Formats: sequence, C-alpha cells, structure tokens
Amino acid sequence: MADKIDVLIPDEKIDARIRELAKQIDRDYAGKSVVFLCTLKGACFFACELAKRVTIPVFMEFIRASSYSGKSSTGNVEMLVDVPVDAVEGKDVLIIEDVIDTGITLSNVKELISGRNPASLKVCSLLDKHECRRVEFEGDYIGFTIGNDFVVGYGLDWDQKYRNLPYVGIVR
Ligand code: IMP
Ligand code: MG
Repeated sequence: MADKIDVLIPDEKIDARIRELAKQIDRDYAGKSVVFLCTLKGACFFACELAKRVTIPVFMEFIRASSYSGKSSTGNVEMLVDVPVDAVEGKDVLIIEDVIDTGITLSNVKELISGRNPASLKVCSLLDKHECRRVEFEGDYIGFTIGNDFVVGYGLDWDQKYRNLPYVGIVR
C-alpha cells in the first residue's frame, strides 16, 4: 500500500520563504560573491532554488558527509564527496543543508571546512528541528523551524524515496 503523506509546508510557502532568504543573502553579502556548499543529496533541491533567486554571484560546490557517533561529539565525519581546498579557502562560504536535526553532521562539517580557512563560513538550512539537538548548533539562515516529525520531500528522503515531492510532508 502507498504511504500516506500529509503536507506540512506547501510549495508556494517554500517558494515565498526562499525568496525572502535570497534577499537576506543579497543584503548580507552585498558586493561579494558566495560559495554555496551544498550537502548532498538532500539539499540540492533547496540550494538550486535559492541560488536562482540570489542576485550576487554564486559558485556551486558539493559535499557528501556521513557522520558517525564516537567518543566526542565532533570530528567524526567522513567525506564521501569532498570539495577541493581552493574552492573554499579565502572564500565566503555558505553551507546549504536540508534539515538540521541533532546538529551532529553540521557541527562536524563546519569544523572540517573552517580548517580550510574560508573568509567566512555560515550555514543556511531549509528546515530546523530545533528541539532535536544533541549538540549545540545554530544555523545562520533558517527557512522553517519544525517539530520532531520525520519529514520528506523538497530533497528530503525516506530510504531514498520522496525527494522529488514539491512540498515538505510527513509520512503517516
Ligand atoms: P543531524 O543534524 O546530524 O542529525 O543530521 C541531519 C541529517 O539527517 C540531514 O541532513 C538528513 O539527511 C537527515 N534527517 C534528519 N531528519 C530528517 C527528516 O525528518 N527527514 C529526512 N532526513 C532527515
Ligand atoms: Mg542530509
């Protein structure tokens, strides 16, 4: 039987919020260019939509990180796809994520990328499940703060399914 998915955030609302975020990024990075460091696979839908609405020059780079828990909360990240050092060194880098959940992945990724000496390093996430944090982590640009439901769509998957839904939904 097909899974039932309830719409949590419809596509028009996502679109409107992306336009607001783009304006904010245009203001904050005025006169500069920005490297969108998109985390695969989930954030690529959001990153492309956002990049199309930002008017300053955007350079697209991609990483794919896999976090695992160890003794310390940070430093346990394996880069399955990595970005060359010269693509971030001395650049204004904005990590683009689909959702911040426990915060573990992004705090690891941020630490690793900051070791490559970007001029600045910030994080933009479509979704923030703020109440699910296991490590302290704050995004700089957040599309929507949501509860602790497992969500799919707009890049987010459930066993690789549902990434291409145009809205964010909850699997029932
Ligand atoms: P965390 O912040 O280290 O817990 O990991 C965030 C990652 O977990 C995201 O990049 C997603 O790949 C995945 N994730 C967390 N919550 C969800 C969800 O509700 N739906 C789909 N993927 C999720
Ligand atoms: Mg992800």
